[in-house]
Amino acid sequence: MQSQTFSCVDGAQLDTETAYRLVVGCVVPRPVAWITSLDADGRVNAAPFSSYNYVATSPPMLAINIAARPEGRGTKDTANNIRRSREFVVNVATEDTMELMHQSAQEFPPDVSEIEALGIALLPSRHVAVPRIAIAPVQMECRLDQVIVLGRGINTLFIGEVVAFHLSDAIYDGRRVDAAAMRPIARLGGPYYAGLGEIFHRPMLQKPPGGEGTA
Ligand SMILES: Cc1cc2nc3c(=O)[nH]c(=O)nc-3n(C[C@H](O)[C@H](O)[C@H](O)COP(=O)(O)O)c2cc1C
Repeated sequence: MQSQTFSCVDGAQLDTETAYRLVVGCVVPRPVAWITSLDADGRVNAAPFSSYNYVATSPPMLAINIAARPEGRGTKDTANNIRRSREFVVNVATEDTMELMHQSAQEFPPDVSEIEALGIALLPSRHVAVPRIAIAPVQMECRLDQVIVLGRGINTLFIGEVVAFHLSDAIYDGRRVDAAAMRPIARLGGPYYAGLGEIFHRPMLQKPPGGEGTA
């Protein structure tokens, strides 16, 4: 292999814009949590968040980093709603829902529901008051567990416990989620998304937590 040359950028003193550009370029691909939440008047809010992953399995927990709005324009509706109601639903964004999901990232005024503006159909949840997005093949009802303000205060990590998984028959056989059938969409840096592309198989070398291990 030809040797590589590198640029080295120190992280500690980076301005927020440069740090953001580097982080979202380097941490790829990112899954997209299409989050529904409820405001104080019961309006349903929907917005995508790709600074997101699972962080625990006993019980299952997800974490989402929600940034403040740029130019000191306060906090995002999703963050306000989760802090107030302590509930939200993570709907998995897919290739089929990419267009709607992307549109829902527009900055709608707080009294305008993305759901109504974009005509997104909803389903009731089992344990939380926040509804699920009907066209998403996976919807995870979450209860807020912890809120952690990070670094200089622009970013806040919301950790939620998954209290119910809703899994479409099209992607779940009662044991495994079929990622190929689900066709999740991934966020890359800037205005780019990606599909799954080629899927590789290797035997698992360690037992999964609590699991029996499978090939
Ligand atoms: C694919 C995608 C991923 C996004 N990921 C994040 C994220 O991880 N954190 C964040 O604060 N904003 C993220 N955004 C921007 C928010 O979706 C946007 O600020 C939105 O207006 C917030 O809506 P709200 O005020 O209704 O909560 C993302 C946008 C898109 C399109």
